[in-house]
Amino acid sequence: MKGVILAGGTGSRLRPITHTGPKQLVPIANKPVLEYAVDDLVEAGIDEIGVILGNKGRDEIQEYFGDGSDWGVDITYIVQGEPLGLAHAVGCAKDFVGDDSFVVYLGDDLMREGITELVEDFNSEEYAAGIGLQEVDEPSRYGIVDVNDEGDVIQLVEKPDDPPNNLALIGIYVFTPAIFGQIESLEKSRRGEYEITEAIQGLLDDGKRIQSHVVHGWWKDTGKPEDVLHANRLVLDDIKTSIDGTVENEESVTGRIELGDGSVIEEGAVIRGPVSIGEDTTITSDTYLGPYTSIGDNCVIDGAHIESSVVVGESEISAERTIVDSLIGRKATITANHEKKPDGERLVIGQNSSLEL
Ligand code: TTP
Repeated sequence: MKGVILAGGTGSRLRPITHTGPKQLVPIANKPVLEYAVDDLVEAGIDEIGVILGNKGRDEIQEYFGDGSDWGVDITYIVQGEPLGLAHAVGCAKDFVGDDSFVVYLGDDLMREGITELVEDFNSEEYAAGIGLQEVDEPSRYGIVDVNDEGDVIQLVEKPDDPPNNLALIGIYVFTPAIFGQIESLEKSRRGEYEITEAIQGLLDDGKRIQSHVVHGWWKDTGKPEDVLHANRLVLDDIKTSIDGTVENEESVTGRIELGDGSVIEEGAVIRGPVSIGEDTTITSDTYLGPYTSIGDNCVIDGAHIESSVVVGESEISAERTIVDSLIGRKATITANHEKKPDGERLVIGQNSSLEL
């Protein structure tokens, strides 16, 4: 079994963060979202991964993961270019995949329980494909999959008015090479993309069997700023304390924190975990970091109150203000304007921004 991670796309819903970089490298608790996918594939025993790249962030992604050896896998990069749809992206992996079965993982997805069970369950003798499903509360907002008593897929329906059940597609698939014939015969959908759901429906129409697998742990797509913050909360809920940097006074810290090498929490700062702090970051004495906050590498947080937010990295925040539910891109500077004092700021800030509050 091989792995294919889709890391192209436009990332338009995550602007302005994606004006300057790919959304798959946005850190969740100080680890790029794409690395969670690589880790899950490795954990499932996959040692050859194809990463599909778009036009944006190609170099950064290749630079970060290199040949994959740091993760114990072989990574092959495949350029899709323009985002012509998930089916088109999967089609780009045809030569890489050869005669093997393969898992497709959306590069902006996070799955708490990983994919080992789904991969182990897949029976390539009997089935042409397998799809990951999860029970959702509002099935009419999702792509819903009707299954029979054996768990075989009967039908896929996009945002149904009258849903047959509440099992939604979550963007994790296992395919045999049979999918490529379907992809090649697709036409663009009304929204101008080659749709993977249509390719899967094509397999069903040809009489092929499709296996379903219901995933129970949380699953999160990080396509929008609020999703990134939500994913950050979910991941921080599971962290264990690990301190490689310096905490000048242990009484500063309550709850679980991660503190990277070279980082300092100065005496007098107040940190309420779960909080993740990267490397070479300074948290000064009059700073408060509240629960569910991630601060990246090479930051100086000087006097701000930050809660439930993600600061990507290389930023300086010296406004003595309360910043909540915010996503702050790399190299942002936030300073204070002392004449104005509202209660809290809610921010989504792109790379290289400079703000005076
Ligand atoms: P989406 O989030 O559906 O698409 P997008 O990245 O274009 O986002 P937006 O709607 O905000 O503009 O894509 C899911 C994943 O699949 C994501 O990791 C990007 C990837 N992808 C490709 O690799 N190629 C494609 O053609 C598309 C549409 C997505």
